[in-house]
Amino acid sequence: AAALAAVAASAVLLTACDSFSTTAVAEHDFVNELAIPPLADSTVEDGVRTFQLTAGQGTTSFLGIGDAETWGFNGAFLGPTLRAERGERVAFEIDNQLPEATSVHWHGMHLPAAMDGGPHQMIEQGETWRSTWTIDQPASTLWYHPHPHGETEKHVYLGLAGMFILDDDASLAADLPSEYGVDDLPLIVQDKEFDNSGRLALNDDGSEPGTLGDTVMVNGTVGAYQEVTTEQVRLRLLNGSTARTYTFEMPDRPMTLISTDGGFLDAPVEMDQVRLAPGERAEVVVSFDAGETVRLHSSKTDLGGIVVPATSGGNDEFDVLEFRAAATLTPSSEPSWPQAKDAVADELHEDEASVTRDFVLNTREINGEQMDMNRIDEVVHVGATEVWEVRSTQPIPHSFHIHDVQFRVLSIDGREPPPELAGPKDTIYLNPNLTYRLLVRFEDYADPTMPYMYHCHMLLHEDEGMMGQFVVIESGDEDRVGVPEHSGH
Ligand code: C2O
Ligand code: CU
Repeated sequence: AAALAAVAASAVLLTACDSFSTTAVAEHDFVNELAIPPLADSTVEDGVRTFQLTAGQGTTSFLGIGDAETWGFNGAFLGPTLRAERGERVAFEIDNQLPEATSVHWHGMHLPAAMDGGPHQMIEQGETWRSTWTIDQPASTLWYHPHPHGETEKHVYLGLAGMFILDDDASLAADLPSEYGVDDLPLIVQDKEFDNSGRLALNDDGSEPGTLGDTVMVNGTVGAYQEVTTEQVRLRLLNGSTARTYTFEMPDRPMTLISTDGGFLDAPVEMDQVRLAPGERAEVVVSFDAGETVRLHSSKTDLGGIVVPATSGGNDEFDVLEFRAAATLTPSSEPSWPQAKDAVADELHEDEASVTRDFVLNTREINGEQMDMNRIDEVVHVGATEVWEVRSTQPIPHSFHIHDVQFRVLSIDGREPPPELAGPKDTIYLNPNLTYRLLVRFEDYADPTMPYMYHCHMLLHEDEGMMGQFVVIESGDEDRVGVPEHSGH
């Protein structure tokens, strides 16, 4: 009840209230224009598109009552939107101007493990790390964020995150809203907790599934509104929160889900609600009427019938973002959907699966072990298609993510996945005690001494050990399997 009392009228009122340990989300006036992360500059030389990113400290006034110390890429909070096309060779030069070491991971990207930006690719303070690979996967909405072992929650929470949009022939040919920042909106949704001076707070009270803020922001804007000028708008939703799960809905209309984590669905699906656990993305197309004002809402979340503790995410209802439609709207053509045969990477076939592995998540462990930087947990053969059977045996939320791949959900406790989970995925919410059978192919990039990660994307869980490491190897390299030298961070 105290938590609900914190649903105050405005940000300013909220600061007058002292119940900051509550996790109900405060309501705000939607009076701040939505910030749109700039598209990152790049230069092309010798066929390589190179981006410069600097991770650094800054200050941000979220509530208008004082500066919060924040971290960002090329700015004080969050980072620019990266954009590249399938087939391009990209390079990133990342300069670490933070007061401590970090790393930058390309979430959802298929790339060599040494370029992945996981906890074995730390960037020391003052150093620059170069990551380069060729984009070889379908159009999708991916993202990037740090991955220092034990510190990921803090680094992401302070602001180190950004969107990474991939285009391909099918997405460029499709008639979809695609004017960035106008009718194609990047929406990084995060919740934060503040102290009385407007500084970011991370509550370390051990509550599950981690810090749940009482203030929701989109692209760093609290109480954001966006002017709408077209009949249809595409929303690229990214749950960039450290622990909170959202169930998005729009009043009086469906959201047409066109894409999940790793790319387009075989066919669009009309959804009343789109649930995203930390790390998940969805692209939806929404229709507007001229002159209306409506809000993207986050509804009560069904977390698999579990009783969500009062301090846990998902049971709150709150508005996220206001849309103000102009008096006349530019007509949008009937969206044309990318052809599934072009849009879907390579079809995965269960009958090609040669190995089945089990992963049980419980109490900061996977299969009874906490993350150990010096232990390789799984050895996968390059080119193999495998079934990963994942199960949480704990009545708290978990969100399972695998690096390097996009998987297909074969079944959830023996049943077909719902359409919104039938597309390419790299992260998935685990309802407790259900077995998720995931079909995964490990296409290429064998390297016996550089692991990829799999973990819970609720970042406190990840930091506290709910993570494991796999290597992809050529046959015959079994004896060479190990962790890289100098990875003692
Ligand atoms: Cu988005 Cu291993 O992370
Ligand atoms: Cu978890």
